[in-house]
Amino acid sequence: MQSQATYHYKVVRQFALMTVVWGIVGMLVGVIIAAQLAWPALNLSELGEWFHFGRLRPLHTNAVIFAFGGCALFATSYYVVQRTCHAPLFMPRLAAFTFWGWQAVIVAAIITLPMGLTTSKEYAELEWPLDILIALVWVSYATVFFGTIAKRKVSHIYVANWFFGAFILTVALLHIVNSAAIPVTFWKSYSAYAGAQDAMIQWWYGHNAVGFFLTAGFLGMMYYFVPKQAGRPVYSYRLSVVHFWALIFTYMWAGPHHLHYTALPDWTQSVGMVFSLILLAPSWGGMINGVMTLSGAWHKLRTDPILKFLIVSLSFYGMSTFEGPMMSIKTVNALSHYTDWTIGHVHSGALGWVAMISIGSVYYLIPRMYGKTEMYSVPLITAHFWIATIGIVLYIASMWIAGVMQGLMWRAVNADGTLTYSFIESVKASYPFWNIRLIGGILFLTGMFLMLYNTIKTISGEKTYNAPVLEPAAAH
Ligand code: HEM
Ligand code: HEM
Repeated sequence: MQSQATYHYKVVRQFALMTVVWGIVGMLVGVIIAAQLAWPALNLSELGEWFHFGRLRPLHTNAVIFAFGGCALFATSYYVVQRTCHAPLFMPRLAAFTFWGWQAVIVAAIITLPMGLTTSKEYAELEWPLDILIALVWVSYATVFFGTIAKRKVSHIYVANWFFGAFILTVALLHIVNSAAIPVTFWKSYSAYAGAQDAMIQWWYGHNAVGFFLTAGFLGMMYYFVPKQAGRPVYSYRLSVVHFWALIFTYMWAGPHHLHYTALPDWTQSVGMVFSLILLAPSWGGMINGVMTLSGAWHKLRTDPILKFLIVSLSFYGMSTFEGPMMSIKTVNALSHYTDWTIGHVHSGALGWVAMISIGSVYYLIPRMYGKTEMYSVPLITAHFWIATIGIVLYIASMWIAGVMQGLMWRAVNADGTLTYSFIESVKASYPFWNIRLIGGILFLTGMFLMLYNTIKTISGEKTYNAPVLEPAAAH
């Protein structure tokens, strides 16, 4: 009886497709703002301010993190929780609501941010009516996800679900606390917090958005798709459990590293620095566990471009979680803060880790969701992989060089104590690097168009196997 029931794949299909679509939109806006930095005339001031860098930048961050990354997380978590619990989704209609509700939030962001309607809190810019919609979608998401876990047919809760679960719970907490505000009109509110407390809450939120939205959820993806694609069990299940608890405990305290040398009490900055340094260990626990899962299957890397995406994403995860703790050291931060070094760090995490693992996982999902044995063209996936990797390297290497250069120019002093360089000289010196970053971004975006083409051809091609049905527990 049970083996006749199907999993709920419609919502997985919808989110997987929108991951590709929003990836293109968000990265296109990224390319536009990168071009605006290279050619300021592209702000198109004569058309009004809606196309200005300041309006489009939050649109970029919201589109790539919450639309592209968010859809990838919804798609994979809904897929993984069903497969590993041997149960269809709990309350599938509520799952459908999370899809349409989330798309409504994204469309509203695309309209309101260029209009300048913003709370001005980074990564939490949307105004209060949209915050309420986000909270509703998120509570529904938690109900569907944990409800599915509750009705699982196997006693064990696979580690990927622990990571997805922590991501869902923590994001709910972060969003509700940080968005507390007093509305004054329909599109204007003031934060419930003031001064240094506001900054502290904002970066408690901001850093945990990195730790849970951009990390824990994607580790959930990693723990399912890497073993599946490699055809090997997780290297160390014990390590996965230990680094899970260490990671979620440590992330919570690291936020003040975003506020070094500010009005925040000095001791909180030091606590933030120390916890950031500790964070290296659980982060590398995950990275090593993922990479070592390939033990005995390394040869597959040569021929399997999906595995290339997944494993290279882990290398970037390892790199950015080494760099982050270094940047959190106060004296290092004195150089890196306000410079393009931060932007390089962000994108080695965002493009290298978040985008690459999402792309690999979606390439795994799409054919399975549409009853195909594999993507329309495997060579096109390989091409995507190389174009994307070269794009990332150009992006982050140029930003690292520009960042260190800017930091050094700003602090250079002459023998008489006057500044060696004016600020504008550091801007002029940055232009070549901003151009290289633009080329890197265009390459990465080109890869996404290849993915879109490959996806459309896969979906529209001949059906090659029957719709998946619930498998008996032993067969999984
Ligand atoms: C084609 C790909 C991309 C391009 C060309 C691009 C470009 C840019 C540019 C030009 C900025 C502003 C930098 C500045 O203010 O100096 C930026 C900021 C940012 N981008 Fe991207 N981006 C891309 C992809 C992504 C992806 C996939 C993510 C996340 C998953 C992401 C997350 C961010 C974040 C979080 C910031 C703000 C950083 C900060 O405030 O420190 N970007 N991006
Ligand atoms: C052990 C892990 C990590 C630590 C300790 C860490 C630490 C840091 C530090 C010190 C900064 C600079 C703060 C400043 O000067 O303003 C920073 C910025 C940032 N990091 Fe990380 N990082 C880590 C991993 C990651 C990963 C994996 C990602 C992305 C997926 C990421 C995304 C960001 C973003 C978006 C910012 C810019 C925030 C902003 O100012 O808008 N970080 N991180």
